[in-house]
Amino acid sequence: MHSRFTQQELPACKPILTPELVMATFIFLGITFIPIGLSHLAASDHVVELIDRYDEDCIPTDKFNPSAAHHNRVGYIQDVKTDKTCVRTLTVPKKMKHPIFVYYQLDDFYQNHRRFVKSRNDEQYRNPLADHRTGNCEPESLNNENKPIVPCGLIAWSLFNDTFTLSRNNIALPINQKDIAWESDKTHKFGSNVYPKNFQSRGLIGGAKLNESIPLNQQEDLLVWMRTAALPSFRKLYGRIETDLEANENINVVIQNNYNTYSFNGKKKFVISTTTWIGGKNDFLGRVYITVGGVCLLIAITYIIFYLVKPRPLGDPSYLSWNRIPASN
Ligand SMILES: *[C@@H]1O[C@H](CO)[C@@H](O)[C@H](O)[C@H]1NC(C)=O
Repeated sequence: MHSRFTQQELPACKPILTPELVMATFIFLGITFIPIGLSHLAASDHVVELIDRYDEDCIPTDKFNPSAAHHNRVGYIQDVKTDKTCVRTLTVPKKMKHPIFVYYQLDDFYQNHRRFVKSRNDEQYRNPLADHRTGNCEPESLNNENKPIVPCGLIAWSLFNDTFTLSRNNIALPINQKDIAWESDKTHKFGSNVYPKNFQSRGLIGGAKLNESIPLNQQEDLLVWMRTAALPSFRKLYGRIETDLEANENINVVIQNNYNTYSFNGKKKFVISTTTWIGGKNDFLGRVYITVGGVCLLIAITYIIFYLVKPRPLGDPSYLSWNRIPASN
């Protein structure tokens, strides 16, 4: 068969990697990546962030007796009768422009565990006629009377239930909790006519209760929680503060410390943060850009030095092994 294809004669780009081309490419990568990296770092530096770990401080000290700490803390948090209010005062480090995002952060909470991630039934969450669809939801599929739990599964069951109320100078500082979930979750993934049923009514209480008169797609804290985090340390959006905060202002945070991370030594943090075009505070991407750009420049410089000190003509046939003078042994 003789064709241009079998003879490998199809038109193709056959670049010749001359030293000039290689050096120019590395220099170009270096001088574009380093400024990109610097601008990321500058943006990240602009973000004002306030983090307050409260899980340990919000347990009364008499429950914190180290010898029996584990038992006491879990007992305290599971006791529905004790008041779990905890007041914290935070000082704003720098002026924070609105919108200011309010998050809770959990550390050492494995929302990414395989059996946890799969413990849900999206058909049930979406379709009002699919109450009975509780596949994958064990052990949170049926209540004690064999009625289906809506929303079923361990993710929904473990919904975060600490609450935060803010004030400054004794004036309430409202947190807007609307529009914190993904739009597609509200319009597609969760139904506007699916209502919670038999939720948290079976055995151990895992977390927050849901209002049975509000459809799932409007329970935005649930939607945020149900987008499981990929890493064991994660933040979830709680709401937004829609006024500016001035430097050195004191913010009063009243926490209802309900959520049990004590039985597995997880940590709980309250976070408020501004954002810029790169999102929240994150130096990683900027550092990666600068490192890659720096390595490219370094390679380019090495090439240039070799090129100047020990140049050799391109395509010189005397370098071919069969043209070399054989070694003298
Ligand atoms: C909050 O969740 C914990 C489990 O993490 C549960 O023991 C507690 O009863 C819940 N409290 C409220 C008020 O929902």
